[in-house]
Amino acid sequence: MTTTALPADVFLHLTAGGVSVVLDATTGRLPAVVHWGASLGAQTADSVDALTVAAEEPAAGNVVDQAVRVALLPEHHAGWEGRPGVVGHRAGADWSLLFTVASIDVEAEGSLRQDGRLVETGPAAVTFRARDEIGGVDLALEVELLAGGLVRTRAAVTNVGSGVYEVSELNVALPLPTRAREILDFAGRWSKERIPQRRELVVGSHLREGRKGRTGPDAATVLSVGVPGFGFRQGEVWGVHVGFSGNHRHYAERLSTGAQVVGGGELLLAGEILLDEGQSYLGPWVYASYGDGLDDQAHRFHRYLRARPTHPRRPRPVTLNVWEAVYFDHDLDRLIGLADRAAAVGVERFVLDDGWFAGRRDDTRGLGDWTVDRDVWPDGLGPLIDHVRGLGMEFGLWFEPEMVSEDSELARAHPDWIMQTGGRLPLRSRHQQVLDLGIAAAYEHILERMSAILAEYDIAYIKWDHNRDLIDAGTPPTGRAGVHEQTLAAYRLMDALKARFPGLEIESCSSGGARVDLGVLERTDRVWVSDCVDPLERQQMNRWTMQLLPPELLGSHVGSPVNHTTGRDLALSFRAGTAVFGHFGIEWDLARATDADLDDLTEWVDFHIRHRELLHGGDLVRADQVDPAFQVYGSVAPDGSEALFFLAFLGRPNESPHGRFTLPGLDGDAPYRVRPVTVGAADPGRTDPRWYGDGTGTVLTGRVLATAGLQLPLSLPERVVVLHASRIAG
Ligand code: DGJ
Repeated sequence: MTTTALPADVFLHLTAGGVSVVLDATTGRLPAVVHWGASLGAQTADSVDALTVAAEEPAAGNVVDQAVRVALLPEHHAGWEGRPGVVGHRAGADWSLLFTVASIDVEAEGSLRQDGRLVETGPAAVTFRARDEIGGVDLALEVELLAGGLVRTRAAVTNVGSGVYEVSELNVALPLPTRAREILDFAGRWSKERIPQRRELVVGSHLREGRKGRTGPDAATVLSVGVPGFGFRQGEVWGVHVGFSGNHRHYAERLSTGAQVVGGGELLLAGEILLDEGQSYLGPWVYASYGDGLDDQAHRFHRYLRARPTHPRRPRPVTLNVWEAVYFDHDLDRLIGLADRAAAVGVERFVLDDGWFAGRRDDTRGLGDWTVDRDVWPDGLGPLIDHVRGLGMEFGLWFEPEMVSEDSELARAHPDWIMQTGGRLPLRSRHQQVLDLGIAAAYEHILERMSAILAEYDIAYIKWDHNRDLIDAGTPPTGRAGVHEQTLAAYRLMDALKARFPGLEIESCSSGGARVDLGVLERTDRVWVSDCVDPLERQQMNRWTMQLLPPELLGSHVGSPVNHTTGRDLALSFRAGTAVFGHFGIEWDLARATDADLDDLTEWVDFHIRHRELLHGGDLVRADQVDPAFQVYGSVAPDGSEALFFLAFLGRPNESPHGRFTLPGLDGDAPYRVRPVTVGAADPGRTDPRWYGDGTGTVLTGRVLATAGLQLPLSLPERVVVLHASRIAG
């Protein structure tokens, strides 16, 4: 990496992974994105100049007498009448800032190509430093184009004037072409997260605010706008994700001029950021992914995550989490029996969930008292952990570090560590309150307690829970809003534990899927997608969580036959066949499983272990289907040599037989053998199509498979059919 200082009067053309970003940073103005989308090929100073002129709006009636220019940090003074980048003031003044760029630094792997005012490069990180001399605010605006074509950008402001500067918003936004008119983002609720929702982008704002003090089950996650009808495999789409685990904002807006942007930032509560002279506020990374179809967009997120030095590289251990097996019934003999059964089916990591610490006999008490409950565990956790380790499994333990029960020794000793405002305690949620980690002593206490447990026992993994929204989350004694500080403190705590205990893995669990974002993913190793492991629900939730995260980061477990959340009674082949495309695990009291179930489960564990390199390292493929009764998805090896596909029969199609499905994503010219894979006992009620042959399948090229396709087998609903495709050498 070399850093090059450029004059504040350039065009920048960054290209990587099939994406181009062209920035107009001429004449000391903040960079405006002239193009973000498919690669434009090499440019010259003249062609980029022409591109910029071509993009300039003609003056319409009743707007400013100069072309409106929307910068990456949109500026009101420029005539931009949409959401501004900075919303702030100094005692009512300095609220409309005009930044002048003083320096531009480019950090790039390769050398820069320069043609007059145009600078071209591959993947690079660019920092613009600017000042509003009159407003007394400095700005550092960063834009990176990462190797796979993912863009990320963030801003920091510093008060360089006199007196306090209050920041209420700091947004970054990227322009959308006019043809992008259809929004896709996500809603959700506890146990049913990441529900896709689509609507037209019309004049106005599509604003998704997260005010829960955590990412939220209803987070927009990725807010995309695409050409009408865009799908998984086709249709241009541009989307953003705010990489932050506290309050946040995603938005798409279209002005009456036709100009439109997609953007986001942290959502700051009243008075949260009051900058004294010399103080700064840094906003979160806002990630922007362009794709020709949603799979292409998802691949950019996945490639970025997989390239991080912190990405889990060793095979993801098959996990058993005891929660739905025993809940609060912590009994050593019972858990040892569960560990024995887990090891027998091939489990590699055993996780003890909520209920092990002092006084925690149910969910009304004990949070904050992070010492082992001696009533339930007279000899500590050692006997269980030794047994688990003796069986060759890793051990994991549950914590909920940011929370406190009013009925706990911690709350009795430090009632002033509970987040609150207005001289009252917040309404309880799951009977609990939030521990203010912004208070140094509270933070140190929790760090010390967790460190003590991690130092005493052989623990490879923490399941890090967070089971309530932050309501009235003020910092005592003033009661000033404290969500921003709390979020950063939680990050610091994770970072500190990871630094103290190298190799420690952390799962981001927040009532299931309420903390799924790239901020927490900077310091965690997987997410618990949802508390609901019903495969019918997980087919949707996993599918859409993969819009942001690759499957190896998705905790995905086989539950008991009758699902604890929905009451549905579903076949093991469907439960396991769904969970297997993720970080596979089990959440089931195996003492209640039949021998036949245990045999089948062993086969699924074995299947997963044999194929996890492909499942966790391949390119996600989701075929565009029009019938909600079934869906086709899978993973294609990066070199195209093989793939695993899953046909999930979610309901009963209206027609039977059902016609053909396609297998996209393979090497078009190469022949592939596609064959069904049976794991465990064969499903009843299936009629195989003729191309199955005697189980050896058929040979067709990738292009034929992606375009003409194959006849679906007839299947009962709520079943998964697994297909393996292998390229025939030749
Ligand atoms: C919510 C989690 O999502 C569950 O898996 C479990 O850990 C419970 N909390 C424990 O209280």
